[in-house]
Formats: sequence, C-alpha cells, structure tokens
Amino acid sequence: MSGSGLAFGIDFGGSGIKGAPVDLEAGEFAEERVRIDTPQPATPDAVATVFKELLGKFADSDGPVGVTVPGVVKHGVVHSAANIDKHWIGEDADKLFTDATGRDVHVVNDADAAGLAEVRYGAAKGRQGLVIVTTLGTGIGSALVYDGVLVPNSELGHLEIDGHDAEKRAASSVKEREDLSWEDWAARLTTYYRKLEDLFSPELFVVGGGVSKKADKFLSLIDIDTEIIAAALENAAGIVGAALYATESND
Ligand code: BGC
Repeated sequence: MSGSGLAFGIDFGGSGIKGAPVDLEAGEFAEERVRIDTPQPATPDAVATVFKELLGKFADSDGPVGVTVPGVVKHGVVHSAANIDKHWIGEDADKLFTDATGRDVHVVNDADAAGLAEVRYGAAKGRQGLVIVTTLGTGIGSALVYDGVLVPNSELGHLEIDGHDAEKRAASSVKEREDLSWEDWAARLTTYYRKLEDLFSPELFVVGGGVSKKADKFLSLIDIDTEIIAAALENAAGIVGAALYATESND
C-alpha cells in the first residue's frame, strides 16, 4: 500500500513529544497532531521508542520525518544539551531515529525549525534581509535567517551578557521561577535584544515560544529600535519547520 508521501514533523520537548503530518503547501498540519509524554529520563534510546510509537499512529504518512532537538545539530549529530539529558551529546540522531523507525529522519535545532516556519509561512513571511527569530521558553533559542536562508545553530541564547548566560536571565522559565512582573522581565529582554541589535542590526525580530501567546503583555515594553513582532504559528512552528527541513534536506 502506498502512503500519502506527506512529510512528518516531530517536536521533541521536555514534557511532551508531539507530531503530525504536514501539508507543506499550506504550512499547516494535514491531520490533528498527537502528543505522547516525554519519557524520563529522556535518553536518546527511550525517545526513539516513542517516535516509533508516534509514527505508528499515522499509518498513511510515509514521507521524510523532521525532528526538533534543543541543541546544536551538525550533519545529524547532536553537539550540545543545555536543557536535555547529556547522553544526547555526540549522538548521531539522524542514524538512531532512522534505524529505530525505518523512516528517513532528519534532526534540526528547535529554534531553527521554528525560524524556518515563521519565515516561510508565518510572521516573517516574505521578509528580506536579516530576520532573527527567538524562542522564549525553558531556554532561549535563536534562528538567523537571511533572505529566507537559514544560518543554522546560532545559539544566541547563550550570549554572555553582564557575566551571565543570557537565557539564565531572560528565558520565560526565569520569569516564572523568579516571579518577575512583565515590566521587570521586559527590562531584561530589552538588555538582551539591544545586545542582538548591536551585534547584528537585523531588519526584524520575531518572538516565539509558548509565551508569545501573551505578546500583548510584554512586547511593547521592550525598548529597542528594531521592529519586534510575535510569532504567528505558535506551537505548530516546530512541527511544521521540522517537516519542511526534512523535505528540503532530501531535495
Ligand atoms: C539550547 C538551544 C535551543 C534553546 C531553546 C538552548 O539552551 O542551547 O539549542 O534552541 O535552548 O530550546
């Protein structure tokens, strides 16, 4: 039996692993996504088992599979693990997941996937020049996209600012942990985005991550000169961007 040929995206997060087949013409899910709890500890082998189970729920989908990972990824190998199980470092994730699932799997940094999706289909669609997409969550992820082309693994959440790793001061998890007001958090974000402005002079910042749903509470409080807007795809960005990445890796 031949399947749909649709690409599939998997968003590998700290608490949930979510996946759906993706319609790449429209930049949206082709079927409702499925979520499975992330195994604890989230070792590469345990996660590969969940991916197999997840893909098994979509018997019709047989295209390439993209997977987001919150770390540096080069040639399918994971090279950092700031907020995930340290066993990921050095893991050839493309090979592990391809072997475990029998599918053609390509791994991509989570923020890079979100950045690709926002530039292709979302808030930065059609924007030229340098767009910096940041995801504010447990850590800070970043995607540098110039004229629609991704420069991968920018890792701007780990810029050192005033002697601190930037994500340890300004991620949305820090706002929660330290119970910061929107104003106090926005002051830290101002410091962070000003640093990015100084270094890169981008045309546009796009702010993603779960907290982007509450953009009206803090975006206008960030005092910078560059245009800054909320992501449009919200929690679909990782899945859609990963599926796009996997498909373009195959071209
Ligand atoms: C990681 C990045 C990731 C970001 C968001 C950072 O700690 O180093 O690779 O994109 O968190 O998950």
